[in-house]
Amino acid sequence: MKYSSDLILAVDTSADDTCAAVVKGRRVLSNIRYSQIALHQAYGGIFPTVAKRAHLERIDGVIARALKTARCSINDIKYLAVTYGPGLAPSLLVGVNTIKELSKKYSLPIIPVNHMEGHIFSCFAENRNGLPDREIQFPFLAFLVSGGHTELVKVTDYAQYAMLGRTVDDAAGEALDKAARLITGEGYPGGPLIEKLAREGNAQAFQFPIPMTKTGDLQFSYSGLKTALLYIVRSMTDEERIQKTNDLAASFQHGIFKSLLWKLDKGIDQTGAKLLAVGGGVSANKLFRKQVRQLARSKGCTVYFPPKRSLEGDNAAMIGIAAAMKVGKGYIVTDSEKIEHMPKATLQSLERF
Ligand code: KG4
Ligand code: ZN
Repeated sequence: MKYSSDLILAVDTSADDTCAAVVKGRRVLSNIRYSQIALHQAYGGIFPTVAKRAHLERIDGVIARALKTARCSINDIKYLAVTYGPGLAPSLLVGVNTIKELSKKYSLPIIPVNHMEGHIFSCFAENRNGLPDREIQFPFLAFLVSGGHTELVKVTDYAQYAMLGRTVDDAAGEALDKAARLITGEGYPGGPLIEKLAREGNAQAFQFPIPMTKTGDLQFSYSGLKTALLYIVRSMTDEERIQKTNDLAASFQHGIFKSLLWKLDKGIDQTGAKLLAVGGGVSANKLFRKQVRQLARSKGCTVYFPPKRSLEGDNAAMIGIAAAMKVGKGYIVTDSEKIEHMPKATLQSLERF
């Protein structure tokens, strides 16, 4: 089955970024993101009502810019795509309602997309010239590591997912965000801050328990690591903590990555995967990428990360690409009223509205 090469206008407002993009199949013609990071920094995390208001204020402008950058108009668009979940309810609702209105106004069908499908297919994005040229070979193993999710997923076909393992508590990115706050008293998002601090630190200075290594399954858990860090930080004076900031960041990050790599190793063995797609905000981390590449090489796997920075965190191009993959599978909704936002949506039970 080939995926659609029609023009798709996609929107993602699942968390704190207001995103719109135009894609033609896997080719990204525009990918506009309005980041709300500055608005949420004061709260140390995403503040839902602030996020909703900012999405409402920006969404129309972001869509207009996506169309303009792609040098097309709404009349050239064949399908609309939108993230229906998972994510923050007030945020999701803005994108879903906006797309529903456009669907009614221009009589355009909608392809509802799960946010995590987007992160998977972000690895297969191409520029206007069709580069990089990456072949999608099923089945492949997707490793999704973001602020809300830590998941190992077997992708057997377009829109066919088997959840192999996921976190039972915090996501890896969330743990890094919380760690940044404990160690430095600030930092949203924390992952990039921890990465920077860790570069100057000793990863062996503090020992963190590596969770879930004896369970034999592919589940993840990060609340124990966070608690261990809390005890260490509480046992220190402010001066000691400031002096050890880099070592704390490096050791904590080491613990998180070691457990991620441990499970990825098991996942590759259990599935015999030859292709890995790694997505989500944490995939931006250089040390993490290096470690995943080393593991993949030792297992004889090809590994793909999102090919551009703008495709690493949340974005709408990945939603458009995932939508293009679903057209041939019939995930097209003509009655927009049927679409609902689903904050707790999972890949396992992909919605057919
Ligand atoms: O995929 P994403 O942008 O949003 C969702 O959660 O869906 O991921 C955000 C997460 C945050 O927890 C952030 O701290 C983490 O990705 N992150 C990183 C890096 N950049 C973003 N973690 C580690 N190293 C980074 N360079
Ligand atoms: Zn995301």
